[in-house]
Amino acid sequence: MKTYAKAFLAAFMALSMMACASSEKTQEEETAVKEETENTEAEVPEETPAEEHSSDSLIIVFSRTGEQYNVGEIEKGNTMIVAEMIQNHTGADLFEILPEDDYYPYTYNELTEVAKQEQQDQARPAYKGDLPDLSQYSTVFIGSPVWWGDYPMLMYTVLENNDFHSRKLVPFATSEGSGLAGMDEKLKSLFPDSEVTEGLAIRGTDAQQNREETEAKVSGWLEQLGFAHR
Ligand SMILES: Cc1cc2nc3c(=O)[nH]c(=O)nc-3n(C[C@H](O)[C@H](O)[C@H](O)COP(=O)(O)O)c2cc1C
Repeated sequence: MKTYAKAFLAAFMALSMMACASSEKTQEEETAVKEETENTEAEVPEETPAEEHSSDSLIIVFSRTGEQYNVGEIEKGNTMIVAEMIQNHTGADLFEILPEDDYYPYTYNELTEVAKQEQQDQARPAYKGDLPDLSQYSTVFIGSPVWWGDYPMLMYTVLENNDFHSRKLVPFATSEGSGLAGMDEKLKSLFPDSEVTEGLAIRGTDAQQNREETEAKVSGWLEQLGFAHR
């Protein structure tokens, strides 16, 4: 009996030690897991800072609401409609160019007079805010209405005060018959070291009233330029 008791005791102790060792190991493992988790947690910033930009393409666009040629009073500008279609396809960031003090008249006839005067004066009206840092973008879509056969003078302020060099520039415009009014050529001469792609000209009335047709033109043009649908 004594021998059995000894053997039992020895076996019990051996088992207890194993159990103890195993529980220590479990504790060690737990500590390691905890430390690893803590370390992993430490590597992840508590709050991810808001992304300054989400795409390497940017759309800058000027567009007027109010009374517009041939379409009456509009709540969204013709060129803005096209810009949003481009954004929808490409996922590009969008910056709207607004005049610093919005002195442009609401009515079409008055607006044409102010615009004509600005063109004669070669004015450089100020725009509101700052464009996003262009160095973050390899492609910039540049959208504008045609005013008196040219870019509105406000667009020249933007083009002359930001660095559009050495990137891909993609012109688009709305007008009622002037097409792109040579905006692509203007961009080429202002930024000779940038690649200026084929531009897109949409009739303002179509952008406003024939959305499906406009959408098809926008997507066909983007595909042709190699912009995959996001
Ligand atoms: C001041 C002014 C000048 C314009 N000049 C022209 C022009 O020279 N050629 C043309 O085809 N359309 C011209 N238009 C028509 C606009 O280009 C057209 O309505 C455009 O789609 C307006 O775009 P938005 O709504 O984005 O501002 C002019 C419109 C305005 C207000």
